[in-house]
Amino acid sequence: MIKKKAKSIVLILVAASVIITFFSVEIVSRDAFTFFKRNILNETFVHTSSRLLNVTPTKNLLTKSRIESIRKIYGHSWDEVITPYAAKYVIDGRNICNALSPPSLLIFVLSLPKNTEERQAIRRTWGSVASRGKYTFNISTKLAFMLGRMANEIVFDNLVYNESALYEDIVQIDFMESRYNLTRKMMHGLGWIKTFCGSVSYILKADDDTFTNVATMFNYLLTDSNINNKTIHGHLYRNGGHVLRTGKYAVKKDELPSSRYPPYVSGTAYIMPYDAISDMLDLAERLPYCPVDDAFMTGVLRVILDIKIQHSEYFTDMFERKINPCKFYSKIAVTNINTKCMYLLWNLTTHVGVRDCKQPKLYDKNICSIFG
Ligand SMILES: *[C@@H]1O[C@H](CO)[C@@H](O)[C@H](O)[C@H]1NC(C)=O
Ligand SMILES: *[C@@H]1O[C@H](CO)[C@@H](O)[C@H](O)[C@H]1NC(C)=O
Ligand SMILES: *[C@@H]1O[C@H](CO)[C@@H](O)[C@H](O)[C@H]1NC(C)=O
Ligand SMILES: *[C@@H]1O[C@H](CO)[C@@H](O)[C@H](O)[C@H]1NC(C)=O
Ligand SMILES: *[C@@H]1O[C@H](CO)[C@@H](O)[C@H](O)[C@H]1NC(C)=O
Ligand SMILES: *[C@@H]1O[C@H](CO)[C@@H](O)[C@H](O)[C@H]1NC(C)=O
Repeated sequence: MIKKKAKSIVLILVAASVIITFFSVEIVSRDAFTFFKRNILNETFVHTSSRLLNVTPTKNLLTKSRIESIRKIYGHSWDEVITPYAAKYVIDGRNICNALSPPSLLIFVLSLPKNTEERQAIRRTWGSVASRGKYTFNISTKLAFMLGRMANEIVFDNLVYNESALYEDIVQIDFMESRYNLTRKMMHGLGWIKTFCGSVSYILKADDDTFTNVATMFNYLLTDSNINNKTIHGHLYRNGGHVLRTGKYAVKKDELPSSRYPPYVSGTAYIMPYDAISDMLDLAERLPYCPVDDAFMTGVLRVILDIKIQHSEYFTDMFERKINPCKFYSKIAVTNINTKCMYLLWNLTTHVGVRDCKQPKLYDKNICSIFG
């Protein structure tokens, strides 16, 4: 039955993507670094507007007519939940956002139970911005690691439990970790944010092998003119790309009938507005499960919900394996970073005076393959 509807969903997705306009964003990296020195190293907030804090939440993006058309496409009643995402928490992390100053920005890092070292590296480097108090950049920020479960449950559950008791930055949900389950993981994550972190305006989604240049990110959040405009920001695949039926990113026809994805952003790191979460979850529960998490969330769900998307070359994707040191400082996020490299990049972005990108010895490619 769904097969017959394939054509109409393609049409809807294509039509929706055509009406979207894209913006290019420029950030002057020099300013970002000055900004960083002033604000992070000094722990004092100096300038910038507090625009980020003034987001007025407008819920219910799902208008009546939209709901009607989705019903038609999928041929079942809107009330019918076909992919439930009710979570069973192992660790509910209810205290993460329950701080004295409720966070406006949540750094939401997808991690695996076994990646203790990766989490520690993030806590000690760029993630430390979350424990620096609300005056850093005037944006109160929290860090949460999102985990599922792995085979050898007892061993890892104990490790994770202890780590969580120590740092209080872990959310663990009872589902099996796998590539196929990544969409499930993200949806559980959205559910957690909705339930336990309702104060945030924006979420930075990242993987645990991502390095975020927090100075550049905050600069972007505070200066981009579209940031309050219910927009997802990241490395955009403008043409969406083919829905693959075989291999690592295989999606079955009954999971997604269309042959192309709408434009979407790379899942390695992106910024997404809190306002989008509720509707995304509602919608996802009414669609078949689709395992390619970034294309499904920031492509399919986003197009149906009419959420804007904006490309920034300062976000990275998995194809960008090499980065010129002089370009590194303007990046918001780089990926494929092992823990040693994480510390090196943190040193580079925090230590005053080492910023001369023409000094190759500072950009050790044996530690950071991105400089190779
Ligand atoms: C830190 O703040 C003080 C006082 O505002 C200022 O004099 C100093 O230059 C700042 N340091 C940096 C690295 O910006
Ligand atoms: C920080 O944000 C708060 C809340 O919007 C605002 O009242 C305050 O003036 C801001 N502080 C600075 C230094 O801009
Ligand atoms: C967790 O902590 C408890 C109490 O400190 C300790 O007895 C136990 O060995 C720890 N477990 C793991 C797996 O680290
Ligand atoms: C996904 O998670 C569910 C819930 O834990 C589990 O039953 C299923 O086996 C997982 N699927 C894969 C492919 O790992
Ligand atoms: C949202 O974007 C539109 C153009 O896309 C612009 O006209 C409007 O001013 C923006 N609103 C805010 C609050 O930035
Ligand atoms: C980073 O800086 C610290 C302090 O200067 C130093 O101990 C550490 O070795 C550096 N790490 C890397 C990977 O450069």
